[in-house]
Amino acid sequence: MHERLLDALARRGALADPDAIAYLSSRADPVAVLESVIAKLEGVPLVLTMEHIQRAQELARKAGQAARPPPVANATLPSPPKLRDLARATEVDAQFAVVRDVTGKSTCEGTLDDFSRYFASRLAMIGPMLRARRELVGSVDIARAKKLTREVRFIGMVADVRATKKGDRVLEVEDETDTAPVFLSQTSDLFKDPVLPDEVIGVVGRPTEKGLIIAEQVVRPDILTPRAFPATKDAVSVAFISDVHVGSKTFLREKWDAFASWMNGTDEVAQSIKYLVLAGDVVDGIGVYPRQEEELAIDDIFAQYEEVARLLGAIPDHVNMILLPGNHDAVRPAEPQPALPQDVAKLFDSNVTFVGNPCSFTVHGVRILAYHGRSLDDFVYSLPGMSYARPLDGMREMLRRRHLAPLYGGKTPIAPEAEDYLVIDEVPDVFVAGHVHAVGMDEYKGVKIVNASTWQAQTAYQKMHNIIPQPARVPILNLGTGRGTIKEF
Ligand SMILES: [Fe+2]
Ligand SMILES: [Fe+2]
Repeated sequence: MHERLLDALARRGALADPDAIAYLSSRADPVAVLESVIAKLEGVPLVLTMEHIQRAQELARKAGQAARPPPVANATLPSPPKLRDLARATEVDAQFAVVRDVTGKSTCEGTLDDFSRYFASRLAMIGPMLRARRELVGSVDIARAKKLTREVRFIGMVADVRATKKGDRVLEVEDETDTAPVFLSQTSDLFKDPVLPDEVIGVVGRPTEKGLIIAEQVVRPDILTPRAFPATKDAVSVAFISDVHVGSKTFLREKWDAFASWMNGTDEVAQSIKYLVLAGDVVDGIGVYPRQEEELAIDDIFAQYEEVARLLGAIPDHVNMILLPGNHDAVRPAEPQPALPQDVAKLFDSNVTFVGNPCSFTVHGVRILAYHGRSLDDFVYSLPGMSYARPLDGMREMLRRRHLAPLYGGKTPIAPEAEDYLVIDEVPDVFVAGHVHAVGMDEYKGVKIVNASTWQAQTAYQKMHNIIPQPARVPILNLGTGRGTIKEF
């Protein structure tokens, strides 16, 4: 039985660590369990571990599948972390550090040279992630791939996606050496997973005599190994809010006041909150869309920020607030956006830290990627099945592509910085976005994904587009347990 298992692993070119082998061997049909685990992981990890097996079982449970792989009784699984008591935020010192942020580092002027350097940076950052994928071992550059007649593997950026007359799809994939047309047949499974222009992908395919490459696999950089949440010693919590839209007539003042008074109250969860992340659109802004002035209660941008400063002044002093801009805020709209300027920041108390959009930072060593989420518009418009009501789907697609806004030339304006700050270079422990005024909390390959709601009721624009917001909800994550909750006001 043990040999059959090792054979099955070898056939897939995979290794497994001793714990994983011991566990699989203890099952009635180890090969069947192995296969179901691999099917759930969407790819073969280099070394299969118990973490992978648990993750696959969790996915299977979520999908409501029958008990396959079988329950883990008697297995040598590590026990889940114990639920700790919540810590009181007043008794814990802040541990906050910015890891990656464009603020103060912007160099681009938007020239053509800037753009070619920008896209080269994207390819240079995502290319190595793809090269680490088993499917792409032995990949070559495109100029060389085009000369081969056997199966080829290469990595490149999608310069164009077009449909053929018959309804198939051709991707123009380029690297620094050449461009290759990659054919996706409408009858292939690959066709169901659309590729966006400007994403960086890996291709496994076969060349035809006419110079086309028939795709057999399209490989995404994705997250190679599912992560375990790095539960911290101090069980303080992070609360996530977004899209407050102060200054708008539809700002939900009463609900905000209820939130602020809960934050000042005796609730155990409220008292555990040490950090409050504000994921952009803190004000409604001025001149963001046509005839906005008709929907404004405060029609001066500084007066809007003064009001935000007053509202945040009511949040307890021991709460560290991390505020990034969104597309309604008073900084350049092109992403990455730097932090709000000093003449705005000086209106606020010292417990508010201004960062750029996107920004990666750590709290107690937990890495949080905060992004306003403008590109969710592009995902909803470009990918079938995406919806404003389910922003977590779009956030998963960002993690699969390891890029926050792959599509250039859509709704998300992009500033061509020398380094592509929109690449998800390191896998975060937590990924938060806002912008779509919906709420949600889930997990993707071990990353907690959060959409942080809004404090604005339905606007005329949203009504016209049948977008129903989910306001006044606060996702809260405890850093000691990795558990999340959503509190509604
Ligand atoms: Fe917004
Ligand atoms: Fe927004």
